[in-house]
Amino acid sequence: MLFKQQALLRQKLFVLGSLAIGSLLYLVARVGSLDRLQPLCPIDGRFGPRSQDEIQLRALQFKRGLLHEFRKGNATKEQIRLHNLVQQLPKAIIIGVRKGGTRALLEMLNLHPAVVKASQEIHFFDNDENYAKGIEWYRKKMPFSYPHQITIEKSPAYFITEEVPERIYKMNSSIKLLIIVREPTTRAISDYTQVLEGKERKNKTYYKFEKLAIDPNTCEVNTKYKAVRTSIYTKHLERWLKYFPVEQFHIVDGDRLITEPLPELQLVEKFLNLPPRISQYNLYFNATRGFYCLRFNIVFNKCLAGSKGRIHPEVDASVITKLRKFFHPFNQKFYQITGRTFNWP
Ligand code: A3P
Repeated sequence: MLFKQQALLRQKLFVLGSLAIGSLLYLVARVGSLDRLQPLCPIDGRFGPRSQDEIQLRALQFKRGLLHEFRKGNATKEQIRLHNLVQQLPKAIIIGVRKGGTRALLEMLNLHPAVVKASQEIHFFDNDENYAKGIEWYRKKMPFSYPHQITIEKSPAYFITEEVPERIYKMNSSIKLLIIVREPTTRAISDYTQVLEGKERKNKTYYKFEKLAIDPNTCEVNTKYKAVRTSIYTKHLERWLKYFPVEQFHIVDGDRLITEPLPELQLVEKFLNLPPRISQYNLYFNATRGFYCLRFNIVFNKCLAGSKGRIHPEVDASVITKLRKFFHPFNQKFYQITGRTFNWP
């Protein structure tokens, strides 16, 4: 009898304890989400001394981390009303390049308190059906933010889709455009690896990279292969330059973003006229993942999904050499146009 009573008491204590922890977590999440939306300071370049900023930033990072863990969707109706939140068209877009590190770039920029990311790829400008829905449809896809914050979206298909530059120009001719590139052959193999994984998931077989990248009749590089075409960066950029001046683009080194993300992010902050807010504290190397991950505070951090950072299949050395030789003149032109030189072979 006594034993039964004790068990009942233990059960009650357990239920009460769980309720208390649950409520505490809920409260913490609510506070976090409100603070995420709190403006830190306006983006006008006039900022106080660095030391003062850092104290604020630590506190903000802590609270933002909680938000990232607990917030599931957009702000609540109550928050929208209380804080005059708005859904804003993006002031900057990561237009590509597919497999260049577009997700990492977006997530890392989102560490900045004045940046709000659109989590999903919206595919507004490259998809005719979406585009036909109109600009209001696009705006409604954007996250809620304070008017002083900037919204950024990424849809890597924009870079290679014919109609996109003109469509974006019509929306905002002074928009800032970010392009993240990697060494073209590595990017092409990464692109292939993604498609290969998709086929394997569906239990389908697929060609070897070598077979797709090299035309068996001519033994030359197969320029009809999409993964090859996408890596001819200069060809795509030239189309964009018919609409936007080169100063409106910022080229991000995707290979460096992997090994040394902070300096790359600092260049982007400068390009976007944002005060420097992303620090080494926000980025830590995770040896298991083999990549930098994001730290919001001492408790909360996150790495990108496992689909980012796949192991590439081995590719025949002669094919790699052939591809590198093929891309070389296009790369030279790309450096010349953009003013950013890479050590690509
Ligand atoms: P791999 O899978 O070939 O390694 P995208 O987001 O445009 O699809 O780009 C994916 C690439 O982002 C990955 O290509 C990976 O190398 C790169 N990347 C850059 N920084 C990363 C990070 N911190 N974590 C995971 N992947 C990262």
